[in-house]
Amino acid sequence: MSCIDNINIKRVPRHVAIIMDGNGRWAKQRGTNRIFGHEHGVEAVRNSIKAAAHIGVEYLTLYAFSTENWSRPKYEVDALMRLLVNVVKNETDELKANNVQLKIIGDRQSLPKKVCREVDKMVEKLSANTGLTVLIALSYSSHWEIINAVKSIAYDVKKGKIEPEDISRELFDSYLATAEIPNPELMIRTSGETRLSNFLLWQLAYAELYFTQKLWPDFCEEDFYQAICNYQSRERRFGKTSEQLEKTNLK
Ligand code: IPE
Ligand code: IPE
Ligand code: MG
Repeated sequence: MSCIDNINIKRVPRHVAIIMDGNGRWAKQRGTNRIFGHEHGVEAVRNSIKAAAHIGVEYLTLYAFSTENWSRPKYEVDALMRLLVNVVKNETDELKANNVQLKIIGDRQSLPKKVCREVDKMVEKLSANTGLTVLIALSYSSHWEIINAVKSIAYDVKKGKIEPEDISRELFDSYLATAEIPNPELMIRTSGETRLSNFLLWQLAYAELYFTQKLWPDFCEEDFYQAICNYQSRERRFGKTSEQLEKTNLK
């Protein structure tokens, strides 16, 4: 029996975020180089997009490259950028046919021009779609994002566009790369690591965290459904007590 049969379609998270980790270890287990692992990670990206769209998730954020990943060996960074450009070129038609929209979040200025051009083209080609929005976190880190937001707010205060008193959670949200996108209810990390690695620190404040031992290239649709089932088995209290939640559920 597939886990999908146990999913309550009315309680599917609107936004799921994934730290796609373990490509290097997957490759090492096979005695190959890390790049081979990254190449195989592409299939897992396809699987996750398919599964998310299938059950009606609205937003899927995939952590593809962190600002810290720029410190990896040059051959690995170059290979990752090349892979990205190829994936973007090869997958656009399929994503278009599947009504998927695309958004890139991250520090564009640090990305090679060619990568920016290709991803921009892809975003444009998918812009008329209305289904699942896939957000690719590329050269992304929360510290970069939050510092950027604080700078923009400071400029707007200086220009008199806003007053310091106007700064609220909602206003801060609107200065982030994820402005107008609901916060993820569920964050999945593969490969057994149990840290956030500078990913959506503000947005994950109340997310359910799900960690699996599976290495990213092995992550399949069933694994995605399993994470959703696990999420649905949890009680999300937001500071309240169980008894309070039971009362509101009875109403
Ligand atoms: C995740 O896999 C992909 C990126 C960070 C780009 P890793 O490359 O981190 O794989 P491990 O963690 O070394 O196994
Ligand atoms: C986080 O994975 C970044 C991405 C998945 C893109 P890393 O493998 O780079 O994270 P750390 O260094 O183990 O924390
Ligand atoms: Mg890793």
